[in-house]
Amino acid sequence: MAYRVTLIPGDGIGPEVTDATVQVIEATGIPFEWDRQEIIGLAAMEEYGNPLPEHILESVRQNKIALKGPVTTPVGGGFKSVNVGLRQKLDLFANVRPCLSLPGIKTPFEDVDLMIFRENTEGLYSGIENYDERLEIADTISRITRVGCQRIVDFAFDYAQRTGRKKITLVHKANILKKAGAMFLDIGREKAKHYPGIEVNDRIIDNMAMQLVMYPHRYDCIVTTNLFGDILSDLCAGLVGGLGVVAGANFGKDYAIFEAVHGSAPDIAGQQKANPTALIRSCEMMLRYIGEVKAADVLQTELTAVYEEAQVLTADVGGSSSTNEFAAYLADRVSSKMK
Ligand code: NAI
Ligand code: MG
Repeated sequence: MAYRVTLIPGDGIGPEVTDATVQVIEATGIPFEWDRQEIIGLAAMEEYGNPLPEHILESVRQNKIALKGPVTTPVGGGFKSVNVGLRQKLDLFANVRPCLSLPGIKTPFEDVDLMIFRENTEGLYSGIENYDERLEIADTISRITRVGCQRIVDFAFDYAQRTGRKKITLVHKANILKKAGAMFLDIGREKAKHYPGIEVNDRIIDNMAMQLVMYPHRYDCIVTTNLFGDILSDLCAGLVGGLGVVAGANFGKDYAIFEAVHGSAPDIAGQQKANPTALIRSCEMMLRYIGEVKAADVLQTELTAVYEEAQVLTADVGGSSSTNEFAAYLADRVSSKMK
């Protein structure tokens, strides 16, 4: 029986990296049936008057798993992010982003291995916004809940324990955010008491940004609220070779969406310049999630080998190959190892 997965190619570089990723994952020989949902974001706005039409949500609810490319969100106005919309409507509260070094890429540090757990539905992404025309005052409400903090903290500790991680850093701004920051921090500290095998500390977000740039090896797992997690994951991507290589997954109680950390990269869209590694690594997370461990291991080993060789890589990581050339090369190696 084939795995039925909702496939959302998205826009910008989305269709390119999605095609490349599908080619690589199909090379594992694991059967997939893709429920393709191509019209989303601006295209869906034009077609249906809704950037995130109900049938896309329904498709994910039915299949329970989606593989998703990035979707552009207009800046400073226009429709609300469909990426945030999917996470909120499907209650995908945990965004997991492993930032793991690959060989063959020039970066300031080697062997970085950081795991970010970002709360994915609350905080400054609450959508509660107001602009008072008369007073010229703009409000964006950052709302977090005890339930929301508890479940991301629970998720991070459980994940860390299961995967043999040793340290968790709670990242917050509780010195200034006396209510929200304090609640998050209290919940994290309370949780830590039940995990004597995991070393737990906390850092204020601004210091954490500096710490990560200077001493990434001092850190292991990071759990934090929505906006801080969003920013730190791009920062950590920068430590391991950029947005082209960092995977992500959104987990809820019932559904999971696998997508890279990066956005639609309009500056390079349609030019075969995008690095599909980030989405391929997200796919590796998907394979582990569905229990296809052997295929995930092969994908990981071959991807690492391709980087080690450094013969067929995209421009963002110092190569000169196209998106498709990279994918075809990796797919060939994966299929020969799966036989
Ligand atoms: P971005 O992640 O799209 O691009 C930032 C920089 O990284 C650009 O220079 C881009 O060329 C480069 N880059 C990103 N992915 C790459 C890849 N796979 N290979 C090579 N280079 C890559 O971030 P930006 O420019 O801030 O946002 C563009 C759009 O994407 C916005 O509309 C934003 O809202 C949306 N976005 C969507 C996300 C999603 O669908 N989950 C996540 C983040 C942003
Ligand atoms: Mg982001």
